[in-house]
Amino acid sequence: MTLVGRATGQSLTVLGIETSCDETAAGLVSRSPAGEGRILADVVHSQSAEHAPFGGIVPEIAARAHVALIDRVIASALAEAGLGFDDIDAVAATAGPGLIGGVLVGLTTAKAIAFAHGRAMLAVNHLEGHALTARLTHGLEFPYLLLLVSGGHTQILVVRGVGDYQRLGTTLDDALGEAFDKTAKLIGLGYPGGPEVERWAAGGDAGRFDLPRPMLGAAEAHFSFSGLKTALRHRAEALAPLSERDVADLCAGFQQAAIDVVADRTERAIELMRARAIAAGTLVVAGGVAANRALARRLEEVAGSRGLDLVIPPARLCTDNGAMIAWAGAERLALGLSDGLDAPARARWPLDPDAPVAAGAGVKA
Ligand code: KG4
Ligand code: ZN
Repeated sequence: MTLVGRATGQSLTVLGIETSCDETAAGLVSRSPAGEGRILADVVHSQSAEHAPFGGIVPEIAARAHVALIDRVIASALAEAGLGFDDIDAVAATAGPGLIGGVLVGLTTAKAIAFAHGRAMLAVNHLEGHALTARLTHGLEFPYLLLLVSGGHTQILVVRGVGDYQRLGTTLDDALGEAFDKTAKLIGLGYPGGPEVERWAAGGDAGRFDLPRPMLGAAEAHFSFSGLKTALRHRAEALAPLSERDVADLCAGFQQAAIDVVADRTERAIELMRARAIAAGTLVVAGGVAANRALARRLEEVAGSRGLDLVIPPARLCTDNGAMIAWAGAERLALGLSDGLDAPARARWPLDPDAPVAAGAGVKA
């Protein structure tokens, strides 16, 4: 990590590149000296269509698609902002965690741009991109509680500052978005499954099936979804072939059980946070599953009943995008931070490296 002298106390413009999963994305943001953010461009090319026939993301297809798309996506973002490489202060890219082939594409591209144009380079943690988005959209102050629910991650953390996280809970098995996607695949719905399950659930009877709520009431604020997924599979197999009513009721039952788990675990995390005298007044929800309206309504109740404000950035900024990476880069640059061109791509990169291993922790018999 190196210090960049000209960065502090100035308005900064940063290009951000995101290629860790199945979105090829580039965004530009500016950050005023007072810390106010503005999105100048936000271009996202979703590869959903390429992966849909497989019912999930195929890493090799994703990496190749990123190579094919990245230059065009960056050019579109610059055109949208009316800027050239010479107008930016730095280029930021997701350096992990994620599918390593894709991460390498974006990170290498960022290094090449930084080298060719003599600009600072920031190797951004993808999760920090999600974690700091609420400061871009809502100007939020630290600390705040963050529920991060995406296709690859389910965690609840205290965001104490840039690069400063305390994890209170994590999933012991599947991520919440992954559970939505697997449920959808199991009952024959399309990919990505989350939006499909939510749509079908709206017309279903959540009470028809008695589905488990793993981890409910557990002392630690951890999550688990694989038992729910297995229970759902047994119900679906027993009913096959599924009628439309069955599909709607299975979706409603799954979504209700998942939301019950998330609400309970979030309440537990709030208790743990207060027991540690952490004075966060806001619960932020980020990651792709934050787009789920039923989950948002429930978390509104959870936050309200505990005296917290609820902040959910717009759905477009909750799913993977380049603007959030640019913003995390700008926040780091404003602190005088940047990275060398030898910064590694990382398949795993926890936000709180000191958090104890959670596997099996708190699982109730
Ligand atoms: O944050 P994201 O775009 O990518 C990752 O970093 O994983 O999240 C994608 C995930 C997918 O699993 C998708 O099914 C889920 O977010 N998702 C939803 C909804 N919209 C997207 N899950 C539930 N309800 C939704 N409305
Ligand atoms: Zn993500």
